[in-house]
Amino acid sequence: METLLKPTTKNVLEVISLPNLTPDAFISYYKANTVAIDNALTRAAVKFKGVQIDTQENFKHIVDSISEKFMSYIDGNSPRTKLSSNIYTSTEYDKTQKITMHNELSYSAKWPNKLFFSCLQPASEGGETLIADSRAILKEMDPEIVNEIADKGLIYVRNLHGGAGLGPSWQETFETEDKNELEAYCKSYGIDLTWCGNGNIKLKQYSKGIINHRITGERLWFNQIDQFHPIQLGEDMKETLSILYDSPEEYPMYVTFGDGKNISEDIITEVLNTIERVTVAPVWEKNELLILDNELLAHGRNPYAGDRKVLVSMSE
Ligand SMILES: [Fe+2]
Repeated sequence: METLLKPTTKNVLEVISLPNLTPDAFISYYKANTVAIDNALTRAAVKFKGVQIDTQENFKHIVDSISEKFMSYIDGNSPRTKLSSNIYTSTEYDKTQKITMHNELSYSAKWPNKLFFSCLQPASEGGETLIADSRAILKEMDPEIVNEIADKGLIYVRNLHGGAGLGPSWQETFETEDKNELEAYCKSYGIDLTWCGNGNIKLKQYSKGIINHRITGERLWFNQIDQFHPIQLGEDMKETLSILYDSPEEYPMYVTFGDGKNISEDIITEVLNTIERVTVAPVWEKNELLILDNELLAHGRNPYAGDRKVLVSMSE
């Protein structure tokens, strides 16, 4: 495991090269080194090269074997296909667009601790899974922005339709058709739910936005304010929505400070630029397994050309 001590890619990613292990050989290796690997995951992302992952079944077998408990992508906000229990395609969001950096489900009351990625089909160009250290983001960020979030927290707003409308329905988002189940879920996670007519719902969720790592206690940038902000919509869509809706609070996604104050475009621009400065873009090859601590590292995706297939799974 001495390779773990040689971080690469600006200390954000540690690469471990293995001699083309079969899935079962990799599982044995992983179990024999769990303590060292878990330690490494509190420092950086870890990428294992030389693991024979050429099918979804291999990926599932490995991930099921090296991690104990999984959550599904309930309450997620990104289009994906569920391939089998707990295995998803990485987001199917438009390939010509970059997916900005985020910690998975950081707007939710419950988020996965670890993320597992593997690339079955690298894109012909681009398509890197981007990573950035949430400690570094916090350190680089304008202290005024950090302090305002730390003081007030954030409120994530989502308006989900009941079958027809813009963005995902609540049924897709929560993987249920049952209103009682939806209400019980929201109640148990402290999500404020309002029925708005036509089967549509409004969800408001308070979130800290800056957290302490559950193991190391380190302070981390942990939010998705830029993804929920209208700045992401582009000028055309922003204009369309401003005609369709009375206020941005009615848009499919919106975010304010915890006291309801709007977050300015200047702040979001500063956030995006700051994160960009600490982001790395390791190139995907086949037969790699990438593991991230979801609190410690933000992730995103570069735009790409050609076909690309990346599988993802999440664990607690
Ligand atoms: Fe994600």
